[in-house]
Amino acid sequence: MRLAVNIDHVATLRNARGEGIPDPVEAALLAERNGAAGIVCHLREDRRHIMDKDLRNLRASVRTKLDLEMAMTSEMQAIALDTKPELVTLVPEKREELTTEGGFNITAHYDTLVEFIKPFRESGIEVSLFIEPEKKAIDLSHQAGADLVELHTGKYALQYDKENAEREFRRIREAAAYAKNLGLKVVAGHGLGYGNIAPFTQIAEIEEVSIGHAIIARAVFIGLGEAVREMTAIIG
Ligand code: PXP
Repeated sequence: MRLAVNIDHVATLRNARGEGIPDPVEAALLAERNGAAGIVCHLREDRRHIMDKDLRNLRASVRTKLDLEMAMTSEMQAIALDTKPELVTLVPEKREELTTEGGFNITAHYDTLVEFIKPFRESGIEVSLFIEPEKKAIDLSHQAGADLVELHTGKYALQYDKENAEREFRRIREAAAYAKNLGLKVVAGHGLGYGNIAPFTQIAEIEEVSIGHAIIARAVFIGLGEAVREMTAIIG
């Protein structure tokens, strides 16, 4: 299983003082040198962490794979087509949320989504949809022309009760098998960390996990290189 490191919160820290440090690009390069197979950043409408110049600099520097998380807006589409990341991940975005709270509601936006995906396919940019681990969302992702689905692991991660966590885990495992069987690539993310990632190594269909907060938080104490190495050691 590969690790994609989300470096948004390096920018959060940088923005806290409005100065140039720490630099998200330096973080991305350090993560790559220590085993990250991809770098993820979320350019939000309000630019609360990653900014346009960060995205341009990341594009110029990232050598593994750049995954741009973005809302389904024409502004973001134009930026993405111009920047050319290897992958875009479409996420729902609400201004008031602290982080992405739920999966993309494909049913409500299906026709718009189909049109939205087309130019990315024409540009050779892969499209991933961040969805709940549910069959209907997977079927619609496949029909709409997505290359990947990112299964939302937030509900699993939030369960402190063992039984509930196991139920959520089973849901993700079944969804991963279902999506893979349709020919979709499967990745997972949100709320994953050192203490809850281990069971995911048993799900062969999940090619990659996308982890941000836990790694950046760990990096504060042990350094980013070591934090990335610790995680890649767990996921194998
Ligand atoms: N995947 C997606 C689609 C996300 O929006 C986020 C949060 O930015 C993550 C993964 C990473 O979540 P976390 O920061 O909890 O590891």
